[in-house]
Amino acid sequence: MNERPEKPRDTMIRTTAGWRLWLAFCGAALWPGAARAASPPSSSTPSVCASCHRAQAATQPATSMAHALETVAECEILRAHQKLTFRDGAYSYEILRDGNRSIYKVTDGKETFTVPIGWALGLGTAGQTYVYRWNGNFYESHVSFFKQLQGLDLTIGTILNPKNLEEAVGRQLFGTEIRRCFACHATRALRQDQVDIEGLIPGVQCERCHGPAEQHVKAVQSGDVKAAAMRKLGSLTTEEMSDFCGDCHRTWAEIAMGPQRGVENVRFQPYRLTNSKCYNALDARIRCAACHDPHREVQLESAAYDVKCLACHSSGSTLAASGAKAQAAGHPGTCPVGTKDCASCHMPRYEIPGTHNRFTDHWIRVVTPGEPYPG
Ligand code: HEC
Ligand code: HEC
Ligand code: HEC
Ligand code: HEC
Ligand code: HEC
Ligand code: HEC
Ligand code: HEC
Repeated sequence: MNERPEKPRDTMIRTTAGWRLWLAFCGAALWPGAARAASPPSSSTPSVCASCHRAQAATQPATSMAHALETVAECEILRAHQKLTFRDGAYSYEILRDGNRSIYKVTDGKETFTVPIGWALGLGTAGQTYVYRWNGNFYESHVSFFKQLQGLDLTIGTILNPKNLEEAVGRQLFGTEIRRCFACHATRALRQDQVDIEGLIPGVQCERCHGPAEQHVKAVQSGDVKAAAMRKLGSLTTEEMSDFCGDCHRTWAEIAMGPQRGVENVRFQPYRLTNSKCYNALDARIRCAACHDPHREVQLESAAYDVKCLACHSSGSTLAASGAKAQAAGHPGTCPVGTKDCASCHMPRYEIPGTHNRFTDHWIRVVTPGEPYPG
């Protein structure tokens, strides 16, 4: 990643509007990969854990979460697409591959703005959005890559009908927004409450979920059992785990107290799951980790989840005798209609407008044809 040793170089472009755009060919110091290569191996990288925790380290690096943020050099989508183009009204967009970089170029026919992309967010199961720096500030690209289209379209939440080239290029990300953006998509993203461009590790890695492990590794190696202890995430209750994953996937409280969003809230699984009759704060069979191993990529076949449903919904199963809901419910019942592929009928998928993707509704229920989306 060090093949661009030249110093930062700014080229000014004059515009009719009178504001200035800088063609910021950032130097190596701004590139996360370069900074990483120079620092000692971090305990945040799965390879440090691999010698002892083989199972997790073998599969976790291939998950979407581990790639939730990628450097441009490593980004598969940008590598595979040498040239991406899009048009939004008067503005034309191009993303061009140039060695290990991808250059984002926007023009209104008179003026052109050009900037190297800084980071790619989202592995692209639905889409991938680009963050770049300009004049020391962070921006989100006006256009994103969508898997279903194999091309560009407008980023969700971008400024619609931009008034000038500056707005057409991207939306500036201020304070909390940029900090949270990196904190959810990367590891060790913040230092003293600021985005730590040089120290951050792309993607959701071991330490983002398990907490700092440097001490743990040292202590295990020196046989200090007491100091070696890590938090046991396996002993989280169902509710605690919903809140734990909800740190990024959003908690029930965050959504319940916010504005009603209609179908847009389908992507907030902790909220949707808590609303379903199956949910019991103390029954581990309905924890996020009961159905998803956070160290493995999500299972796509709905049949893979049957055994999870049947853990409660078979004639032999009983409910954990905890919580008024379970007491009142008695036996959770078996299905009069199907014996397999439970999720395909009881966890329907909904498309959120603009995402070109269908999300799985975790509000498990009997779905009546034509019913409105239960918000
Ligand atoms: C030299 C071997 C070694 C290395 C390297 C190592 N661990 Fe461990 N880890 C252990 C041992 C042994 C235990 C069991 C300790 C115990 O029983 O409390 C453990 C326990 C854990 C636990 C608690 C598991 C539970 O029961 O819930 C977590 C989490 C964990 N390690 C995470 C990590 C992470 C993350 C890394 C890499 C940053 C890492 N470990 C590196 C040896 C290691
Ligand atoms: C640090 C933030 C963070 C935490 C904590 C987190 N996730 Fe994620 N998760 C993400 C992001 C970001 C994505 C989107 C990855 C992508 O496609 O780019 C994601 C994606 C996923 C996916 C979908 C993968 C796919 O194939 O699309 C599953 C399943 C998932 N997370 C489950 C969990 C579970 C279960 C937990 C709790 C044990 C959890 N996550 C905790 C940030 C997080
Ligand atoms: C509160 C945590 C959080 C914040 C803040 C956040 N994200 Fe995410 N993001 C997620 C999670 C979790 C997912 C996966 C589930 C989903 O699609 O909703 C995701 C999914 C995505 C996806 C789609 C990934 C895919 O594989 O299809 C993109 C693109 C994305 N985020 C970009 C961004 C950008 C850019 C920002 C900041 C401007 C941002 N996100 C802020 C948690 C967050
Ligand atoms: C998205 C969050 C997340 C990430 C990333 C993650 N883990 Fe975990 N890990 C968990 C959760 C949640 C559990 C508890 C799972 C359960 O209860 O089934 C867990 C459990 C474990 C355990 C205990 C397993 C057992 O059988 O008791 C170890 C060891 C572990 N993780 C190591 C790692 C290592 C090493 C990495 C990186 C390669 C990693 N984890 C990445 C969330 C995560
Ligand atoms: C009873 C089983 C079950 C539980 C519990 C569960 N999920 Fe899922 N989840 C599924 C199924 C089924 C899918 C769809 C998989 C597929 O076919 O793509 C899914 C998909 C996902 C996805 C991928 C995005 C999507 O919309 O398809 C994410 C992210 C996710 N779950 C997060 C969570 C989180 C966070 C929790 C805990 C609050 C959780 N899940 C609890 C069954 C479950
Ligand atoms: C922790 C145990 C548990 C798990 C796991 C579980 N359920 Fe349930 N489910 C329940 C309970 C309890 C009820 C409420 C029964 C009642 O009210 O009579 C329920 C209710 C239902 C209902 C009826 C809801 C309604 O709207 O009337 C359906 C359908 C259902 N579950 C399907 C599923 C499917 C499909 C899965 C797997 C994806 C699943 N459940 C996983 C415990 C569970
Ligand atoms: C082809 C679609 C389909 C499949 C597959 C399916 N179901 Fe159902 N299920 C339904 C419908 C429709 C109802 C409502 C039936 C009624 O009320 O007459 C229902 C009802 C239920 C109920 C509520 C029963 C009650 O007593 O009120 C539960 C629980 C349930 N299903 C669980 C499951 C489980 C577990 C599986 C997988 C083993 C499954 N379903 C597979 C369509 C399906």
